[in-house]
Amino acid sequence: MNPSQNLILIGPMGSGKSAVGRALARELHRDFFDSDDVIEERTGVDIPFIFEKEGEDGFRQRETRILEELTDKAGIVLATGGGAVVRDENRRCLGARGFVVYLETSVEQQLKRTNRGRERPLLSEVDDRRERLEALMQDREPKYLEIADLIVGTDGRKVQAVARDILAQLP
Ligand code: S3P
Repeated sequence: MNPSQNLILIGPMGSGKSAVGRALARELHRDFFDSDDVIEERTGVDIPFIFEKEGEDGFRQRETRILEELTDKAGIVLATGGGAVVRDENRRCLGARGFVVYLETSVEQQLKRTNRGRERPLLSEVDDRRERLEALMQDREPKYLEIADLIVGTDGRKVQAVARDILAQLP
């Protein structure tokens, strides 16, 4: 893979984007960024607080700006938020500015890797997390697939195994 090409991880909540991204960056000696972390650093508050004050729309606007900024770098590993593919402009940006890896994960597995805690606002206030995750997947899966250059399954696999699998398949 061209060292200046960005490596971008997409996929739903609990697919392991941040952990796998960190492992890949270590292996490839690249800088790692997590768009959610950058949003929190910039605003000085956490994502649930942004959702509370500005709604999902406010968060999405911030997310678009940060994705645009981060993908303008060269040779980084970028972990995105699960909803990064929802906006057309984000998909255009991610698809054009990096090699995109989709971490394919079942709702069953997402349920095991996420919890009811407040850190994920889209899951914290619903009675039925399974139903919410299934609805999100139905909407987003075609969007993940639309921009994916590589699809890697993560169900029942450890971070290192997923990272190794990706490394073996990079162009
Ligand atoms: C979201 C996923 C979260 C975070 C925000 C919204 C989503 O990121 O961006 O809570 O819309 O699926 P993770 O996928 O890292 O949990």
